[in-house]
Amino acid sequence: MKTLRVLTGITTSGTPHLGNYVGAIRPTVRASRLAEVESFYFLADYHALIKVGEPARVQRSTLEIAATWLACGLDPEKVTFYRQSDIPEIPELTWLLTCVTGKGILNRAHAYKASVDKNTAAGDDPDAGVTAGLFMYPVLMAADILMFNAHQVPVGRDQIQHIEMARDMASSFNHLYGEHFTLPEAAIEDHVATLPGLDGRKMSKSYDNTIPLFAPKDQLRKLIMGIVTDSRAPGEPKSTEGSAVFQLYQAFATADETASLARAYADGIAWGEAKQLVAERLECEIAPLREVYDALIQNPASIEKTLLQGAEKARVVAKPFISRLRHAVGLRALQAAPEAAGKPKSSKVAAPSFKQYRADDGLFCFKLVDASGQLLLESLGFASPKDAAQLITQLQQTGALALESNLPMLKLHCSMADVQRALAHFNP
Ligand code: TRP
Repeated sequence: MKTLRVLTGITTSGTPHLGNYVGAIRPTVRASRLAEVESFYFLADYHALIKVGEPARVQRSTLEIAATWLACGLDPEKVTFYRQSDIPEIPELTWLLTCVTGKGILNRAHAYKASVDKNTAAGDDPDAGVTAGLFMYPVLMAADILMFNAHQVPVGRDQIQHIEMARDMASSFNHLYGEHFTLPEAAIEDHVATLPGLDGRKMSKSYDNTIPLFAPKDQLRKLIMGIVTDSRAPGEPKSTEGSAVFQLYQAFATADETASLARAYADGIAWGEAKQLVAERLECEIAPLREVYDALIQNPASIEKTLLQGAEKARVVAKPFISRLRHAVGLRALQAAPEAAGKPKSSKVAAPSFKQYRADDGLFCFKLVDASGQLLLESLGFASPKDAAQLITQLQQTGALALESNLPMLKLHCSMADVQRALAHFNP
């Protein structure tokens, strides 16, 4: 039952381009279909506010990116797909983490340091034009990740430092307040291609050399026709090495198709003709997705609904977890027992117990009741009694940890802290 939790965020500050599709969207959607992973994908719109000061652009980008992921096959039934700003627990966690983060660590974050270095080189005040938002970026990102106790975070190389910082914050917090957070790891997709842009450099918004993923057919073709090449004439053999046109084709074609284009290069295919082939191959993969995308963009209300449902799903995890964290740091009801950090103390009352049963729908469930028979927790249905028993064993052996990583399968009938106290009976 222990599934790998994968989480990643996409900043809503631009329009998805072919490089995003090949490097992130396509591999991620494929990975999300694997049965053994539990995926969380979100639109990082709070992060967008750090770079974008135009409300209409943030909104438009959120719409485009959501429509893109859905059109490319992300299944919101299978994954948890949500918008960061719909989860109020995230900014709340950001503050809890802020309070265990050394300011010196944030001073060393690449993005912040780059701004400071630039200012210093220009003889300006080191912090000129730097917002506290940019400075705090890594803490907000850590909150995104730790909120859902993700094991793996697929990101580009430029984000590795942020994941390391999230680990640091998680360790500091755990050290101070008990084991609450899983330490996340960056998952770097080394085998996926980086696409060249129109000018041959890496396709990137910052180089202004991108091809929008869902540009209309004619525009897509026109942009491809404009990709830089060398000046070899038709009939002259051409090198596939370093050819942006070739790399673009390769990212969409099968190995056989790619080999046959390589032969055409050697035989001196004209650039115009090669580009024509690229445009056709891309159109073949993109056209059906574009059709879905266009329909979605025409119907923002349906996307809004999907995102709100995703947020609801995410908050099934986030809400009880933030209550537990609030409790851990001492933000507690005043009448609550002043318990120290770390493992919850087991109380002296008689032991709680697990009861397995078969529900009306034929699925196998269990519940946890306290000594007086009061219902504390109920599971959703499992296909087999063995699966249910396995989770019971996990809960008995690893208590809080198992509880938290299986929350989507469980329905609490009392506070998280009460369930934890009850579980502590099994493994004192
Ligand atoms: N910083 C990431 C980027 O610019 C986006 C992001 C925000 C993110 N929060 C995240 C990625 C959490 C992974 C996990 O690409």
